Amino acid sequence: MSPYGFSSGDPQADRRFAFAGALAASGEMGPAIEVLTSALDLAPDWAAGWYQLGDWHAAAGQNEAAGAAWRRVLALDASDALGAGARIDLLGGQPVSESLPPAFVETLFDQFAPRFDEALTARLGYRAPQLILEALDRAGFERAARAMDLGCGTGLMGEVLRGRCGWLGGVDLSAGMLARAEGKGLYDQLAKADINTLEIDGAGYDLIVAADVFTYVGALERVIAWCAGSLTPRGRLAFAVEAGEAGVALRDSRRFAHGRGYLAELLAAAGLEGVSLTDCVLRQDRGADIEGFIIVCCAPEAGRDREGDGALAAII
Ligand SMILES: C[S@@+](CC[C@H](N)C(=O)[O-])C[C@H]1O[C@@H](n2cnc3c(N)ncnc32)[C@H](O)[C@@H]1O
Repeated sequence: MSPYGFSSGDPQADRRFAFAGALAASGEMGPAIEVLTSALDLAPDWAAGWYQLGDWHAAAGQNEAAGAAWRRVLALDASDALGAGARIDLLGGQPVSESLPPAFVETLFDQFAPRFDEALTARLGYRAPQLILEALDRAGFERAARAMDLGCGTGLMGEVLRGRCGWLGGVDLSAGMLARAEGKGLYDQLAKADINTLEIDGAGYDLIVAADVFTYVGALERVIAWCAGSLTPRGRLAFAVEAGEAGVALRDSRRFAHGRGYLAELLAAAGLEGVSLTDCVLRQDRGADIEGFIIVCCAPEAGRDREGDGALAAII
C-alpha cells in the first residue's frame, strides 16, 4: 500500500474518500471530515488520508484536530514526505523547524518536474536566473572557469549561465528535476544530494549560484559555510531568496523568507565580502508578487582571513 498515492489500498475506504472529496469540494467540511474519518477507520495507516483530514480540519478552523491528524502523519512516516511537520509549525505561528524535510522537498519537486518549466516561466513569470545573472554583471562578473548551481532543478539557471562558464556542475535533491536538467545537456556533472549535507572537498569554484533554493532550506548557516569554504579567492556567490522582515520565517506557502539583517550577519560570519543586495520581484503566486532579494558577494583574496564584518554595512 502506498501511503502517498490517492489510493488507501482499501477499495471501500477509497470510495468513502471520493465521496468525502465531493463533499469538501461543495464546501460541506463537517460531513467531509466525518466521511474521511470513517474511511480512515478502514485504512488507519494511510498517511495521505490523515494529511488530508488535517487539511480539512484546518479549513474548518479546527486547529487542534488538524494538529492531531498531522502528528498522526508524522508517526506513520518519519521522513515526512508530505510536509506535515511544517503545517504543525505554522499552526503554532512559530516555526520550530530549521529546514524542510528532504523527503518532502524531493516528493514535491519529483511531482512538479514535468510541468515545472512551463508553470514557472510561462505562468508565474519566474525570473530569478536572469536577475542573478544581471546582478553578477553589475558586480563585474565576466566568466567562470568552474561554476556550481545549487538546487539546479530542471536547469533554468544553467540555461542563462552555460555560455559564461567553462565547467558547470549542478546538485539537487529531486531525481525528477535532475532528469530534466540532464535532458537539456547543459551541465558537465549533475549529482543528487542535499545541499545542507555537502562536504568541502577542495574542488574550488569561482562561481556558486542558488536560484530560489534557499527558500526551501530555511537556516542557511551550513550551506553558506560550505559556499565560503568552496569558493576560490575572489570567487563569487550569487543567490535569490524571498524577502522577509527579520530572521528566517516559515510562510504559509511552506517556503522560508529571509531578512536583510539575518543575511548580512550570516555572510559576514562566513567571511564573505563585497555584498550587494537588490530588491526584486522573483515571480507571481496566485496573482501576487513574490518579493525577493538577489545577493551577490565574494570570497576574500588569497591569504586573507575570512573573518570580519565587511558584509554588514553594505546591506542593512
Ligand atoms: C524552485 S526550484 C528552483 C530550481 C532552479 N534553481 C531554478 O531556478 O529553476 C527549487 C529546487 O531546489 C531543490 N532543493 C530544495 N531544497 C534542496 C536541498 N536541501 N538540497 C538540494 N536541492 C534542494 C528542489 O529539489 C528544486 O529542484
